[in-house]
Amino acid sequence: MNIIVTGGAGFIGSNFVFHMLNKYPDYRIICLDCLTYAGNLSTLAPVMNNPNFRFVKESITDREAVYKLFEEEHPDIVVNFAAESHVDRSIENPQVFLDTNIIGTSVLMDACRKYGIKRYHQVSTDEVYGDLPLDRPDLFFTEETPIHTSSPYSSSKAAADLLVLAYHRTYGLPVTISRCSNNYGPYHFPEKLIPLMIANALNDKPLPVYGEGLNVRDWLYVEDHCKAIDLIIHNGRVGEVYNVGGHNEKQNIEIVKIICKELGKPESLITHVGDRKGHDMRYAIDPTKIHSELGWLPETNFEDGIKKTIKWYLENRKWWKTIISGEYHNYYKKMYEGR
Ligand code: NAD
Ligand code: DAU
Repeated sequence: MNIIVTGGAGFIGSNFVFHMLNKYPDYRIICLDCLTYAGNLSTLAPVMNNPNFRFVKESITDREAVYKLFEEEHPDIVVNFAAESHVDRSIENPQVFLDTNIIGTSVLMDACRKYGIKRYHQVSTDEVYGDLPLDRPDLFFTEETPIHTSSPYSSSKAAADLLVLAYHRTYGLPVTISRCSNNYGPYHFPEKLIPLMIANALNDKPLPVYGEGLNVRDWLYVEDHCKAIDLIIHNGRVGEVYNVGGHNEKQNIEIVKIICKELGKPESLITHVGDRKGHDMRYAIDPTKIHSELGWLPETNFEDGIKKTIKWYLENRKWWKTIISGEYHNYYKKMYEGR
């Protein structure tokens, strides 16, 4: 089996590459990633010499490069993680989100049509459903929940999802889509809530909580997401959407307090800053479909997952310190110190 994994130098994509190479020693994994600010080749160092692994530095928006890769590798499956993924950046500059997340997806699917493919899998997000009110804990996102996006990021992901379903209906492309809740774990870029709070707490810097911190996210350990995608690409029904989430809802302020406690840092580091524009209140996934059809259940509870994650950031300071010492510095100043 030849699998092209796009965005494999990012957070979830790299964890997926490791998962697949470990679990399927006879599969060949080709990582296609153009290494934006969020991609990091050092993340893939452990597999660079694996004969079943190849890294290709190209953009999914570059049609010529994508077609050339398909001609060389004859992939059986494409799993598309490549995306601009950060909501705050999409509010500052939507254009690149439209280019990568929408146009890039269409280029990949055109290549799949042209060269033939067993499966195209789109890694999507629960953010396409918009948000749920805080005072209705009985409500969850199902696969039938209408698309109702809030940010340029989620709108670009929703547009891509609609294109994927259209390529299935119109051209018969064998597609699947997963819509997952918030991931956390190793190699998470420190602009996102959990790794940002860990890095700042370790540096005794303020912990910037947007607004009152009452917004709720449904956290899933990244390895559980990778296992869900593995199941979907092998056993999922073509043309279907699968929601992925572990019933682990937490308010942002709770998460930050847990991180302070685990690291032995004072809660006085918590600093309430201006809110995100259009900030979604609550995400909560109903994972009944993937559980009943494919037998998927999350295996890591939050208590263990956050401990493992913090341990990883403590043991891999070089990885994130390199990131926060570069261009990130200017981004951070603009994003948090200006609020
Ligand atoms: P990330 O930002 O950590 O990584 C994105 C990767 O894509 C980077 O390696 C980057 O270099 C690469 N990339 C960006 N533009 C590219 C392009 N034009 N061509 C090739 N490569 C490109 O993102 P992540 O958090 O790992 O998310 C991966 C996917 O999962 C995204 O599609 C995201 O929408 C989705 N998702 C993320 C979460 C989450 O909690 N992080 C949850 C649900 C879904
Ligand atoms: O739900 C899935 C989505 O989860 C993915 O599709 C996105 O790619 C991923 O980035 C993530 O989006 P969020 O916006 O939920 O994640 P983020 O880590 O940016 O923020 C989580 C919550 O924490 C959100 O309510 C905003 C808040 N926050 C975030 C940051 C970075 C803060 O309060 N302070 C911060 O500094």
